[in-house]
Amino acid sequence: MASLTLPRHTGFFSGSLPTRPTLRYAAPVKVRMSLSESGPSIAVVGVTGAVGQEFLSVLSDRDFPYRSIKMLASKRSAGRRLTFEGNEYVVEELTAESFGGVDIALFSAGGSISKEFGPIAAEKGTIVVDNSSAFRMDEKVPLVIPEVNPEAMHGIKLGTGKGALIANPNCSTIICLMAATPLHRHAKVLRMVVSTYQAASGAGAAAMEELEQQTREVLEGRPPTCKIFKQQYAFNIFSHNASVLSNGYNEEEMKMVKETRKIWNDKDVKVTATCIRVPVMRAHAESVNLQFESPLHEDTARDILKNAPGVVVIDDRKANHFPTPLEVSNKDDVAVGRIRQDLSQDGNKGLDIFVCGDQIRKGAALNAVQIAEMLL
Ligand SMILES: NC(=O)c1ccc[n+]([C@@H]2O[C@H](COP(=O)([O-])OP(=O)(O)OC[C@H]3O[C@@H](n4cnc5c(N)ncnc54)[C@H](OP(=O)(O)O)[C@@H]3O)[C@@H](O)[C@H]2O)c1
Repeated sequence: MASLTLPRHTGFFSGSLPTRPTLRYAAPVKVRMSLSESGPSIAVVGVTGAVGQEFLSVLSDRDFPYRSIKMLASKRSAGRRLTFEGNEYVVEELTAESFGGVDIALFSAGGSISKEFGPIAAEKGTIVVDNSSAFRMDEKVPLVIPEVNPEAMHGIKLGTGKGALIANPNCSTIICLMAATPLHRHAKVLRMVVSTYQAASGAGAAAMEELEQQTREVLEGRPPTCKIFKQQYAFNIFSHNASVLSNGYNEEEMKMVKETRKIWNDKDVKVTATCIRVPVMRAHAESVNLQFESPLHEDTARDILKNAPGVVVIDDRKANHFPTPLEVSNKDDVAVGRIRQDLSQDGNKGLDIFVCGDQIRKGAALNAVQIAEMLL
């Protein structure tokens, strides 16, 4: 059996790490025992990917109880070994037979895999928490951020023998709504204008490798290798690589528009977004402009955000210190700063904020594990 060469951000595979540059974003390897007779049996689908590896990290960090855990990926990875919480596991190929006896499956293997295997798993009684966009806009599937709309999961329970699909929102939507929702609850958002600065990690482990490789190539005066993105990524920014639709928005931008309406259960909220890739390794940043129905003073907004679960305020005007992707990398909380009254809106009815969040963590794995915790 081959052991898997580590993507650099993982702490679980056996095998040797490639030489790494100074930037570090590896979660520390922990040996904890969350194995418990009474815990659910779980499966991680896409365990070799960027999100899949973070699932393991988050499960371990949060001492998520489990009776057994199955590590699933494609045929390419089948047979590779990985160590998790001191035990060695063999990665299995995902098939229709993978879900017998599995209570909760955390999916992060792409939309087509979710579409094919999610319903099969649910049919077998597994509760699927899916990270892809496959089911997000399906009316029957709850789209959940635990701090924002836990009520959407009403009626989904472990131990009933009934499977279900639950969707994790898009990473940019989660990060934005973690900060915007507490303000929305106070003064009702009528319109939201979002500009994103999205990291390589949002496009998976291979994109992170490409940014690293290109950075080295460009610094050495060599032409950059462009496999994941069509254009040079290192020392550049470009419009998000998602497909551009006939209305001129790309799919990533439309996710923000549609998912916000579903999560807030508000068909009327006006949302527009411009999504941009920046050569940051991990964690997204977003500039968010909000227009409210009722006045909301920036001081009140700052207090609301300071008390919001999963949110930390970094808003030091004197020191010019505000959230950065590096500061939130590998962190659970979403950071908010640049909290200021929008001068272009009368009557204190507008605010500008700047938000940063680790989108592999709160934007994907952590949010999914929090959903799974709500099932326990
Ligand atoms: N990265 C993020 O920040 C983020 C955030 C939110 C949502 N998501 C979503 O999560 C999903 C995975 O993203 P990622 O960034 O982790 O991608 P990734 O690093 O490219 O990992 C993809 C994973 O899917 C597995 N896979 C591919 N084809 C498969 C197949 N036929 N059967 C079973 N497993 C298969 C891969 O296994 P092999 O190693 O065997 O190929 C790998 O484990 C995507 O739907 C993405 O949109 C990602």
